Amino acid sequence: MDQAADLRKLAMGQQTMEDSDASSAQKSTRILSITSGKGGVGKTTLSVNLAIAIARANKRVLLFDGDLGLANVNVLLGIIPDHNLYEVLKGKKRIQDVIIQTSFGIDIIAGANGISQLANLPDAQREKFLEDLDSITGYDMVIIDTGAGVGSNVIGLVMPADEILVVTTPEPTAITDAYGMIKSIVANRQDKNIKLVVNRVSSAIEAKRVADRLISISAQFLRTRIESIGFIFDENLVQKSIRSQRPHVVLYPASKSSACVNHVAARLLNTNVQPESGGLGSIFKRLLTGRSDS
Ligand SMILES: Nc1ncnc2c1ncn2[C@@H]1O[C@H](COP(=O)(O)OP(=O)(O)O)[C@@H](O)[C@H]1O
Ligand SMILES: [Mg+2]
Repeated sequence: MDQAADLRKLAMGQQTMEDSDASSAQKSTRILSITSGKGGVGKTTLSVNLAIAIARANKRVLLFDGDLGLANVNVLLGIIPDHNLYEVLKGKKRIQDVIIQTSFGIDIIAGANGISQLANLPDAQREKFLEDLDSITGYDMVIIDTGAGVGSNVIGLVMPADEILVVTTPEPTAITDAYGMIKSIVANRQDKNIKLVVNRVSSAIEAKRVADRLISISAQFLRTRIESIGFIFDENLVQKSIRSQRPHVVLYPASKSSACVNHVAARLLNTNVQPESGGLGSIFKRLLTGRSDS
């Protein structure tokens, strides 16, 4: 935890991270996967801003970049990682070496590009990597920013999570693909906890229209209940903050889109979830063994 973030928390009248350490060390970690059917709908932007909003509520948050193709969590935070997961896989670094403590109050594991090689590792090396992952403890929440689409890599990171957040925009193609993603999740497991956020809306009414449509077709054709937990306005300042590589909840905390992110964070924190995922180690184990249930 760096000093700048501590000071900011203190200025906001909150406890520092260290204060919450003792109590969180014993608790199990809640794992939230953020995904979508279509790419470019705002998963990474939401993951980063939501992680910060949750951390501000005094939670220890680890944001894991699980987009195997287009990893860019660190880019949105203006961070150049010293080490990557590939070096961990190769046994050159420990997992602790790739956990980056940011000045935004969250820790991140950047670019997971190396993960696709995981399956090809010699057994001993793979075991060591998975053991290393199990040593990541003390977080209240791990947020996994996944890639888009229903490919096995994405589904593998989505299914073992305790909760899944599907992101869509009001575009018909994004809605159709979001439904495709929900369908794949339900095909793997009927009772998965699926939540929805509609990004880039121009009004609350538009958000409700999109959410209602997905909720009703999921109920009708998949017999599954999706819970809408908020929406984010389409705002230029979101793009401006991406260009300046500083999250909008930090750069424009009083903006409408930041208020929306805070609302989503509060909705998540107000829901009690009994973590069953068994942590990151078990998620990767399942990813490797191709077991997508949880
Ligand atoms: N709320 C928003 N308002 C305006 N533009 C947005 C918003 N959310 C995302 N964008 C735009 O969409 C682009 C893609 O977002 P990103 O988070 O990288 O999507 P994904 O991770 O789903 O591929 C961003 O670079 C930004 O230009
Ligand atoms: Mg992304």
